[in-house]
Amino acid sequence: MSNQHDQHESSHRPPNRRKEMSRRQFLTYTLGGATAYMAGGVVLPMLRFAVDPVLHKKTEGNFVKVVEVSKITDEPQEFSFELHQQDGWYASTASLTAWIRKDESGKIYALSPICKHLGCTVGWNNDKGFPNEYHCPCHGAQYTKDGKNLAVAPKPLDEYKVKIDKDWVYLGDIVPNTRAK
Ligand code: FES
Repeated sequence: MSNQHDQHESSHRPPNRRKEMSRRQFLTYTLGGATAYMAGGVVLPMLRFAVDPVLHKKTEGNFVKVVEVSKITDEPQEFSFELHQQDGWYASTASLTAWIRKDESGKIYALSPICKHLGCTVGWNNDKGFPNEYHCPCHGAQYTKDGKNLAVAPKPLDEYKVKIDKDWVYLGDIVPNTRAK
């Protein structure tokens, strides 16, 4: 009797229900995993492509080879050079100039020619009325050899960071003047 009852119950149980569920789950997980894997393969490189420049540290402290040390005298001389910059996705090349000289102790320094009044370009010994000075033709600012402001401009000329390596002068970032007293 009990055997018959068992047979009766088992005939009402959905056949292989546990097995069917696990197969469905298996397919769900497999397809889900494969889809996520493929989506990741597409999305991650795009994401990386989009944020990569932001993650890169801005190139700080880059120096540009400008002139041989042997060419530097105690008289300021103007030298031009190019600075390649990368800001995110934007690449540019700036043409810069520096007035470079050796001071009394032989130390090489470089001044920016950008006038601290309103940004015109200064020159060395370019006005007979102001010998041995940097002079700005726009409104008459005057600066000493060290870039100290004598008239019109509110601040000294900025300096470039200088590095000497294997007899070459390298120039880096523009920083506030450290020489003018
Ligand atoms: S910009 Fe140089 S004096 Fe005005």
